[in-house]
Amino acid sequence: MILSIESSCDDSAISITEIATNKLLFHKKISQELEHSVYGGVVPELAARLHAEALPKILEQCEPYFKDLKAVAVTSTPGLAVTLVEGVTMAKAISIALDIPLIGVNHLVGHIYSLFIEKEAVFPLTVLLVSGGHTQVMEVKSLTEIKTVAKSMDDSFGESFDKVAKMMGLGYPGGPLIQELAKDGDRLKYNFTVPLHQSPLIAFSYSGLKNAVRLAVEEAGEEKQNYKDIAASFEHIATKHLTMKLKKYFKTVQPKTFAIVGGASANLYLRGEIEKLLEPHKAKLLLSELQYCSDNAAMIGRVAVEMYKEQMFTSLDELDIAPRSIL
Ligand code: KG4
Ligand code: ZN
Repeated sequence: MILSIESSCDDSAISITEIATNKLLFHKKISQELEHSVYGGVVPELAARLHAEALPKILEQCEPYFKDLKAVAVTSTPGLAVTLVEGVTMAKAISIALDIPLIGVNHLVGHIYSLFIEKEAVFPLTVLLVSGGHTQVMEVKSLTEIKTVAKSMDDSFGESFDKVAKMMGLGYPGGPLIQELAKDGDRLKYNFTVPLHQSPLIAFSYSGLKNAVRLAVEEAGEEKQNYKDIAASFEHIATKHLTMKLKKYFKTVQPKTFAIVGGASANLYLRGEIEKLLEPHKAKLLLSELQYCSDNAAMIGRVAVEMYKEQMFTSLDELDIAPRSIL
């Protein structure tokens, strides 16, 4: 079995995965959404302190598995430096105490493998990762052959939902809150410009849209229906930006399997629009289970099983925190 730890942002999570079967024997996650909500976003130092409280509590429950552990895995990049260090320090301590190898897992590869929890991995596929930290398209052939073919030049898709929710004083995380508000709104009421619509580049940008929404919110006053219409129009344009760029991508590449992963892949409007886009291409759409879209340790454990089989271990000295990584 492998014990895996995730602490790259505001979720403290630990999993136990059986190497031979990919079976998820244990998974517990403690989210900090409530604590960060009043600030409208994640406060790194507060997040680190909450990890320091939560991770040992979860680890205690894993004690019955300790004797069967063959390795300990941990998210080492990318993420917030002060929160990553909480997980990495714990993993190093377990590695020394139980005398088992250490595996450093890339969080983005984790999101890709969230598709394959308790399943065999199937490649090749093109993956759209939409999370709070990233918006990128990757062509994945195997664990180690991952090519990023498009990415955001500034903010991410998920982050833009968080910022819009903050502008409206709704709380954090913004994704589910905006999705809920948008349900009763008019998607065509606010004619926001689709980012980069005249650019031939296959890349993403959310800073301009975010600022356009800010102006609309300022002008909307306290009127509730205006907020609903802004939320719906924003969700529509933020999604249209993705589908327009993907349409361009499909002109040159026709993947048989397309996947959406990351926290924002839970967005139902996005899922529906991507389904429509894939229809004429007869491409199959893969999605993670809803509970594994946002950050978790089950996905880190699933990658760790593959890395264990390839003996991709790191020494205590080599495993360092890397807040940024690009695939
Ligand atoms: O993958 P994740 O848990 O953390 C990162 O790796 O960043 O993603 C969190 C992000 C947040 O920005 C959150 O607002 C967004 O995912 N999100 C959503 C939805 N649910 C979560 N965005 C849009 N619609 C949703 N339903
Ligand atoms: Zn994530």
